[in-house]
Amino acid sequence: MEQTLITNIGMLIGITDKPRLCGAEMGDLHPIENAYLLIGNGKIAAFGKMADAPQNIDHVVDAKGGVVMPSFCDSHTHIVYAGSREQEFIDKMKGLSYEEIAKRGGGILNSAQRLRNTPEEELYRQSAARLEEVMLKGTGTIEIKSGYGLNVDSELKMLRVIRRMKEEYPVIIKSTLLGAHGVPAEYKGRQDEYVDLVCKEMIPLAAKENLADFIDVFCDKGFFTVEDTDKILNAAAKYGMRPKIHANELDNSGGVQIGIQHHALSVDHLERAGLEEIAALKASETMPTALPGASFFLNMPYALTRQMVDEGLSVALASDYNPGSSPSGDMRFVVSLACINMHLLPEEAINAATINGAYAMDAHRESGSITVGKWANLILTKPVSSIAFIPYAHQTPYIEQVFVKGKAI
Ligand code: NIG
Ligand code: FE
Repeated sequence: MEQTLITNIGMLIGITDKPRLCGAEMGDLHPIENAYLLIGNGKIAAFGKMADAPQNIDHVVDAKGGVVMPSFCDSHTHIVYAGSREQEFIDKMKGLSYEEIAKRGGGILNSAQRLRNTPEEELYRQSAARLEEVMLKGTGTIEIKSGYGLNVDSELKMLRVIRRMKEEYPVIIKSTLLGAHGVPAEYKGRQDEYVDLVCKEMIPLAAKENLADFIDVFCDKGFFTVEDTDKILNAAAKYGMRPKIHANELDNSGGVQIGIQHHALSVDHLERAGLEEIAALKASETMPTALPGASFFLNMPYALTRQMVDEGLSVALASDYNPGSSPSGDMRFVVSLACINMHLLPEEAINAATINGAYAMDAHRESGSITVGKWANLILTKPVSSIAFIPYAHQTPYIEQVFVKGKAI
């Protein structure tokens, strides 16, 4: 058995075997001071106080007093895209809103045009570079969506790129079909027909090739209605694809409620979600997921995660890494934003970005916390004065080493 012993861990945090943490539970990382962690065949084999560390392990990593925590679990990204959209960034500076840019054929449709014209190999190259970037920033489990193809061929091309990354990288990757991300130009005025295409062609074909773990719909003003969403989720349910929904970003869209009705794993964005949505979420197993990077980049309100946690809900945090609303997959920054603008405490934000993120992509049995038997996807920091230093020092390069399936990368 291949074993690695991490010794002299100043603080080992994120210890839980719960599938997700709710309300007050989110405030506790169950730290062990002066700890060890043993990795066997890529998985967490044991951990505890340094005094109880096993002897005679050949391969030892001295943590030198640093923190060891579970890697980030980024449950909502769009890292498969072609090129970038900084021209729209300038348009925004000149006063246009995200919706105005989309109406002019920019936004998602702009990315769709680029992606359709990009060969699969080149798309893979660009996407894999983004994956490598976020791995080095501490992401060990990641969900990646399609949604910039908007026709059968290009949506499947995106999903194949995700499958290839699953095969070639050690991080845990989940894939989501987001055919209903926008109505493509050639279907303008024929939204119903496009929804039919998603239901009758994209979903069955993606299922046949086993290309999508989950289904997503951009259920929001100017995009897809609650009725469209209902149809698509029904079609996907036949193939066992659970929903993760883009909801309540631009308006009070009803996306949260329709997601819950379909037992969604998560409802994401929530910038416009209020008390009604919080009440609906309380009676569900759906994970509300906030994307503060999008609020930051688009100058939108932040989701009411403080209220959610105070009401006893679980909350997850994700990056939404995409070319239009969040061109960054840095989960450290997401955690800092959640503290600064959403008033989560450091412990709550870290739990939201690890175990609760894992739950939001059905990866909590294999990642998201320090638990014997889970993959050793870990972040080792330089020595820090306290856990709060992590979100506080949001630009300090405190990550010393990242482990994926037990191996330093
Ligand atoms: O999650 N809101 C919908 N989709 C993405 C943005 C896509 C884009 O602008 O390219 C999001 O923010
Ligand atoms: Fe998104």
